[in-house]
Amino acid sequence: MDASAQTIAQLLLAWYDASHRRLPWRSPPGVPPPDPYRVWLSEVMLQQTTVAAVIPYFEKFTARWSDVMALAAEDEAEVMAAWAGLGYYSRARNLVACARALAARGGDFPRTEAELRKLPGLGAYTAAAVAAIAFGERAAVVDANVERVVARLDAIDLPLPQARGAIRDRVDELTPAERPGDFAQAMMDLGATICTPRNPRCMLCPLADHCAARPLGPERFPVKPAKAAKPQRRGQAFWIAAEGKVWLVRRAASGMLGGMRALPDDGWNARGDGQAEPPLTGSWQPGGVVRHSFTHFDLDLQLMLYSGNDWARLAKMAGEWWPLDRLDEAGLPTLFAKAARLALAEN
Ligand code: ADE
Repeated sequence: MDASAQTIAQLLLAWYDASHRRLPWRSPPGVPPPDPYRVWLSEVMLQQTTVAAVIPYFEKFTARWSDVMALAAEDEAEVMAAWAGLGYYSRARNLVACARALAARGGDFPRTEAELRKLPGLGAYTAAAVAAIAFGERAAVVDANVERVVARLDAIDLPLPQARGAIRDRVDELTPAERPGDFAQAMMDLGATICTPRNPRCMLCPLADHCAARPLGPERFPVKPAKAAKPQRRGQAFWIAAEGKVWLVRRAASGMLGGMRALPDDGWNARGDGQAEPPLTGSWQPGGVVRHSFTHFDLDLQLMLYSGNDWARLAKMAGEWWPLDRLDEAGLPTLFAKAARLALAEN
């Protein structure tokens, strides 16, 4: 139980040598680290998103923009559209801001956590991950997987928000000077494949003999704070289609799904009752409800289907006719992609 930090790091690295996941942004143990551009891009994508969901996006992005200069030169709207479906869209906007700042300094990444942290749109987690994985700096990399592993290893009895300081200090203590990038990724792999939220596979865990939570029931850690119920919101989205095209708008740059293409909507809950003035005169039919869960609320989005010809009013609104047979290229975020599928199924 009282193994030194060094012993724990060694056990974990030996396990990683044998059991690491092969991932497209990763260099296997013993191979020089990958291009920092690929490390940075993958780490931004992997925040709040699973490895399985990220892989096709990572492949698509690196095929289309092979380095940070190419990404920096792209229109923000194109990058946002390519990001569609990954969620947490502020990440895409921050990605572009950061790429442009890097391009302004010739396209080279700073090599330390402290310098990386000064870039716009590059947060504490990403700075530590890029410094450790791409440049071998001894930085403490803490994501949700790592938090779970450490909360269990030390049976930390505080709910997560309060435990974060202790967890970070412990990760800092455990992170070795040699192979800090492999160590960080080993912690993530352990959290993703062995020390899972449910049914952890302790029999296969290299740290089981040193885990304070194992005799207590590892699933109890990290201790969960009492959870507030998610508020339920209601709203409407408007499907206006004619002659093989649908009317799409660009959402305001700030706010939810900012800057993304979308169906026109009522701002969700503007009146609190899911009822809204439709944007055009004519007849509106309900076309089903899309349920979608955001981080801080659940949304029931009532789809309204238009039949009418109030094109004079439409012509005064900001938006564009988009061909239905190319709708998958519009870069609709998942909420509106679901609504569009529903509308197309009804027609
Ligand atoms: N999650 C976040 N970063 C990761 C990485 N580099 N490898 C695997 N999972 C991760």
